[in-house]
Amino acid sequence: MLDIQKIRADFPILSEKVNGKPLVYFDNGATSQKPQIVIDAIATYYQEINANIHRGVHTLSQLATDAYEISRVKIQHHINAKFSHEVLFTSGTTFGINLVTNGFASILKPGDEVVVSSLEHHSNIVPWQMLCEKTGATLKVIPMNEEGELIMEAFDALLSEKTKVVTVNHISNALGIINPIKYIIEKAHAVGAAVLIDGAQAVPHLKPDVQDLDCDFYAFSGHKMCGPTGTGILYGKEEWLNKLPPYQGGGEMIKEVTFEKTTYADLPHKFEAGTPNIAGGIVLGTAVDYLNNIGFDNIQKQEEALLAHATKRLLEIEGLRIYGTGKNKASVVSFNIDGIHPYDIGSIIDKLGIAVRTGHHCAQPIMNFFCIPGTIRASFSFYNTIEEIDAMVEAVKKAKTMLS
Ligand code: ALA
Repeated sequence: MLDIQKIRADFPILSEKVNGKPLVYFDNGATSQKPQIVIDAIATYYQEINANIHRGVHTLSQLATDAYEISRVKIQHHINAKFSHEVLFTSGTTFGINLVTNGFASILKPGDEVVVSSLEHHSNIVPWQMLCEKTGATLKVIPMNEEGELIMEAFDALLSEKTKVVTVNHISNALGIINPIKYIIEKAHAVGAAVLIDGAQAVPHLKPDVQDLDCDFYAFSGHKMCGPTGTGILYGKEEWLNKLPPYQGGGEMIKEVTFEKTTYADLPHKFEAGTPNIAGGIVLGTAVDYLNNIGFDNIQKQEEALLAHATKRLLEIEGLRIYGTGKNKASVVSFNIDGIHPYDIGSIIDKLGIAVRTGHHCAQPIMNFFCIPGTIRASFSFYNTIEEIDAMVEAVKKAKTMLS
């Protein structure tokens, strides 16, 4: 078992007070907190090796370049990509998805179809809608059931030779449902479609194996997995990254520039124009090391215990409904109390030191499905405790009494 108190000591913010109360941080789905080793690594980079990368012959530039490329290889091994040049540094999941949709603008034709799921975050809906508007392709949606699970029979029926891309999240941000992505990838490939997985909510909880999944693209953010904001990764299969055009033009992504014609650099640089978030990319590697030292088996055990306890305790409250009741779930509980707006509960429990997210969670179609304006979402991390869940339940009960 994890020594949670020892782990919590790694995160300085967890001993802060908010509104005079000990912070209970249950908004990990929005962003995770950062351990001291990650915070320190940012300062160390700027204090010791700050320089631009891939450019200078001078020693600092070499040191910074080496650290950046070592981090890329670390992340390659973490997600089990075949080559390090299949690992692109981005500013986050949204950037990665837009890089891919931009590329498909030169591939899709009118009559082609793009399949998304009804569980997507807006960042994995809107770029595909924009792509469909641009190309004349049609957007199809995998429906969900009352438990918040995607309906696989309906997905099977959507697939045809017209399907060119299928995209789903690995784990739903709003409900915590874990999608059957292996099945989805296999079925999509059977009709010749490419598959992008939005892994933003998965990477804090599990270690994706992109070769085993056989997905074509896997996008995620660093800040949800103990890394800095403004960092992310887009994994793409070599053949796809070679096929897609560059996303942004600029320095570093070229082989040769003349006014007549520019030729592009090899992977991964073709997709990495401009000076990147160098410190962020390096420190994302530090965050990945930190999580692997704790171990994803240990992380999952702790988070399963938190999820089970929170589900049981919250359901003791009369009139409380949990959304996303499917079996396969990450440590997220999305709920409402009859007749009370989620925002009101969120505001009151914030005064008691409890940080949750309220609202539509950038997933309005899910809220429309359940005919609700939003939910209260408590998303747990391995550094959370059973005692914190009990504190949240007591706070929610108090808020309910005040608002009833
Ligand atoms: N996508 C993040 C969330 O679900 C911000 O809260």
